Amino acid sequence: MRKITVVGAGNVGATAAQRLAEKELAREVVMIDVADGIPQGKALDQWESAPVEGFDTRVTGSTSYDAAEGSDLFIVTAGIARKPGMSRDDLLRTNADIVRSVSREIARVAPDSIVIVVSNPLDVMTWVARETTGFPRERVLGMAGVLDTARYRSFIALELDCSVEDIQALVLGGHGDTMVPLVNYTTVSGIPLTQLLSRDRIDALIDRTRKGGAEIVGHLKTGSAYYAPSAAAVQMAEAISRGKKRILPASAYLQGEYGFEGLYLGVPCKLGPDGLESIIEVELTDAERAELEKSAESVRATLAKLD
Ligand code: NAI
Ligand code: 2OP
Repeated sequence: MRKITVVGAGNVGATAAQRLAEKELAREVVMIDVADGIPQGKALDQWESAPVEGFDTRVTGSTSYDAAEGSDLFIVTAGIARKPGMSRDDLLRTNADIVRSVSREIARVAPDSIVIVVSNPLDVMTWVARETTGFPRERVLGMAGVLDTARYRSFIALELDCSVEDIQALVLGGHGDTMVPLVNYTTVSGIPLTQLLSRDRIDALIDRTRKGGAEIVGHLKTGSAYYAPSAAAVQMAEAISRGKKRILPASAYLQGEYGFEGLYLGVPCKLGPDGLESIIEVELTDAERAELEKSAESVRATLAKLD
């Protein structure tokens, strides 16, 4: 790819930019932020690490979208965290306004680009990005499933004291307490997890996964997770920029898949050079289907507040 732009040079955005550059996923990585000096300073600092890390991706920062012109791919991390006295609904409206303005600029400077949204509440912000850019669903995706699945895999590896590389898993649904880790699709080098751990232990790991974001906030206190989230967003960007056709859980606009219509929800997606290639519909048990419906209902309820 020629150019990837990260919007929002905060914790997730700046770490994602550094990871993109270190992997040389594009010839140029641009960071855009409203806070003058932050994208420029962080970009210069990252570029100065290039001789040490050995990458040639040029990293630049700006407050102007002119710098993002013609980007092939965007990672949108712009947004604010909830402040004291602010309700979840206030946060929803504020971030929706931010994602709307960012999306307008993206459509203006790079009408053929692919967009990966990270800003929260994820499934609704991705819906806002698609609605505002007017891009087809193939080119607007949300990142959450890779992160939630990574957390689940990391906890299983700790529990079994084995390599994370050997854990395959799938977490579907909205990014929140209602996410749906699929135990039937969780294996350790092909061995079903249910043969290695008791149902009680698996349930405890699922509970920790669902609360994974809150666990990090509990430690950090002043912000939320960004190392794993940036790694997850960059894995999606890599699948697209290298045209790898990876099958990853991502928030995609559903048009009948899994029985849902007109909302974004985490599902297994094949990601290729043009973005979303296809959505894979896996068999679910009645209990898993009920959980997915509950998760979709929670995304719909948040979406309704926005309307
Ligand atoms: P942060 O506060 O460190 O960074 C956000 C940045 O956005 C700030 O630098 C701010 O100046 C910038 N910004 C605000 N309005 C903007 C605008 N209109 N245009 C451009 N930039 C703007 O926050 P952090 O930790 O980087 O998180 C970013 C977002 O990602 C949050 O909404 C967070 O909840 C979400 N998130 C989502 C995850 C997921 O799994 N989908 C995981 C982790 C974070
Ligand atoms: C997380 O899961 C805050 O959504 C963010 O860490």
